[in-house]
Amino acid sequence: MKSEFELYLEKKKKLIEENLKKYFIREDKFTKRLYEAMYYSISAGGKRLRPIIFLTVLDELGETRRTKDLLPAACSIEMIHTYSLIHDDLPSMDNDDLRRGKPTLHKKYDETTAILAGDALFAYAIETFLKTKTEYEYIVSGLEKLIKASGMKGMVAGQFVDTKSDYFKKDIKTLNFIHTKKTAAMIQASFTLPSILLGYDEQKINLLERLGLHAGLLFQIIDDILDMTSSSSVLGKTAGKDQKQNKLTYVNLFDLKQAKEFARKEADRALKYIKKMEITTGRLEKIIDIFLTRIN
Ligand code: IPE
Ligand code: IPE
Ligand code: MG
Ligand code: MG
Ligand code: MG
Repeated sequence: MKSEFELYLEKKKKLIEENLKKYFIREDKFTKRLYEAMYYSISAGGKRLRPIIFLTVLDELGETRRTKDLLPAACSIEMIHTYSLIHDDLPSMDNDDLRRGKPTLHKKYDETTAILAGDALFAYAIETFLKTKTEYEYIVSGLEKLIKASGMKGMVAGQFVDTKSDYFKKDIKTLNFIHTKKTAAMIQASFTLPSILLGYDEQKINLLERLGLHAGLLFQIIDDILDMTSSSSVLGKTAGKDQKQNKLTYVNLFDLKQAKEFARKEADRALKYIKKMEITTGRLEKIIDIFLTRIN
């Protein structure tokens, strides 16, 4: 039988998927194929962890009644994340042909469509974010957070150093920059945006920011580990690529055992910040546990 928390996660995932779907009904004859391409990647079956974090934090803040108002922001995070995956898989990036258990977008369609679908998903994410219903000033602060997390202060910066790591020293400093930016930044945004969009005080936002950082680092260290230890069929993406492509990852710079220790440390740090928030339902702790023990 499913646990109460598993049912909770399923409910959140369903809500997100139903809402994401609504944004992709377009019949315009010129752009139909592009919408289809965008939707192909969006609907391919990701775990939806980022918007799930967003909605869980919202509940933990006691703001469940604002779910409908803030859902566009949660969906926009997933759109940006999906765009980052489409571009991450391109031949000039990680050159992958499997994603979310399906052919990557450039394989299914073509490279031009994949680049444009990624670009369009980013812009569409901003358009979607602006449908969020809250005070104007909170929308502006939230948008600033989302843009910083996805751009030159976040995901794009991390992706740049990740793909061009030969230009940098292969050490822990570079590795931490990559992981903090390419992955943790968007996960941090998922943790903090509910509080930013509802005008919470800086102390609360900062706690969620710290929690998000360690959860994000944990998430990427486990991604590095799974690349080495799991299979393509379980992951839904090509396993064993990081070593082949000489990527700067925790398992490549250290070893599997040490990488697992780093992951445990990040999990403990995240748990420490959850404790400080004095939230008692245990859901955030369970999310950290999922991050640590996940198999895909
Ligand atoms: C994959 O993210 C890319 C990383 C940042 C490691 P996810 O593992 O969340 O991928 P989906 O969304 O479930 O496909
Ligand atoms: C990519 O990291 C993180 C993104 C910003 C997309 P990876 O290159 O390790 O992600 P996977 O393993 O292909 O999902
Ligand atoms: Mg990559
Ligand atoms: Mg990749
Ligand atoms: Mg990876």
